[in-house]
Amino acid sequence: MTILVIGATGKTGRRVTSALDALGVAYRPVSRHTEIRFDWTDQSTWAAALDGVTAAYLVPVGSNIDAEEVAAFVPQAVAAGVRRLVLLTARGLPDGDGRERAVRESGVEWTILRPTWFAHNFSEDFFLQQVLEGEIVLPVGGDGGHPFIHAQDIADVAVAALTQEGHSGVTYELSGPRALSFGEVVAQIGDVSGRSVRLVDVPVADYIGALMESGFDSVYAEVLTLSLTAMRDGHDDALSDGVPSVLGRDGRSFEDYVKEAADAWA
Ligand SMILES: NC(=O)c1ccc[n+]([C@@H]2O[C@H](COP(=O)([O-])OP(=O)(O)OC[C@H]3O[C@@H](n4cnc5c(N)ncnc54)[C@H](OP(=O)(O)O)[C@@H]3O)[C@@H](O)[C@H]2O)c1
Repeated sequence: MTILVIGATGKTGRRVTSALDALGVAYRPVSRHTEIRFDWTDQSTWAAALDGVTAAYLVPVGSNIDAEEVAAFVPQAVAAGVRRLVLLTARGLPDGDGRERAVRESGVEWTILRPTWFAHNFSEDFFLQQVLEGEIVLPVGGDGGHPFIHAQDIADVAVAALTQEGHSGVTYELSGPRALSFGEVVAQIGDVSGRSVRLVDVPVADYIGALMESGFDSVYAEVLTLSLTAMRDGHDDALSDGVPSVLGRDGRSFEDYVKEAADAWA
């Protein structure tokens, strides 16, 4: 068995490859910056990535637009001999997401992982620069909580679905073990890092405009903002049971995450 790990330089992909290493399972890590290059937007890179693999972890790049790429990729993967697909999407997606449909209709074993927002956005991506600058600017004023998930828990569930029987045909919703508001998140990061970090509330339209100015397309900017305002309004605070049901233990806490991530804010 060789497992193709797409998005292998990202927050979950990197952890999936480390876990596969520890298990002694063969894998091929790919992204636009790996030795074997894989680009969702360049089909000429797909065949080499798929050569000889029997399972694949699919990490789409995160916009609605990539449904087309996933729908084109899945049949090629199946034709190349892939027999098990594990797809990362997101909790709260409307039914009928094209990426999920492609995998469900693939004709091979599939598992879909729908996580909440990753805790690691604050230390490895997206919000890191704002934490370092001392101001997280978001349309999230309010007490609404969200159960941010530890990226290692997503990776552990992905590895279980990739390497074990019993997960085929299942969509797992994954969350952290407790909902925290952005205010609580910022306070915890401030305490552990010793930095002064404050949350700055901005109007929705300004936030969408800022995302688009920084290069996000308008659809993705709106999807992201909708997700943030759902948190603000307390509509995305429910816990999901995917982590305990697959791993037989609770998910890692945000407190644990903050302690582990402290070096990123040093
Ligand atoms: N972050 C969250 O809070 C969150 C929450 C729920 C769901 N998700 C979902 O998780 C997925 C990815 O998460 P993320 O945005 O946090 O990023 P990530 O997995 O940390 O990083 C993205 C990965 O994709 C690779 N990549 C980027 N563009 C690519 C392309 N055109 N072709 C091939 N690989 C490409 C990147 O590597 P290179 O740059 O080296 O190509 C990197 O390995 C998205 O589908 C997102 O919707 C994220």
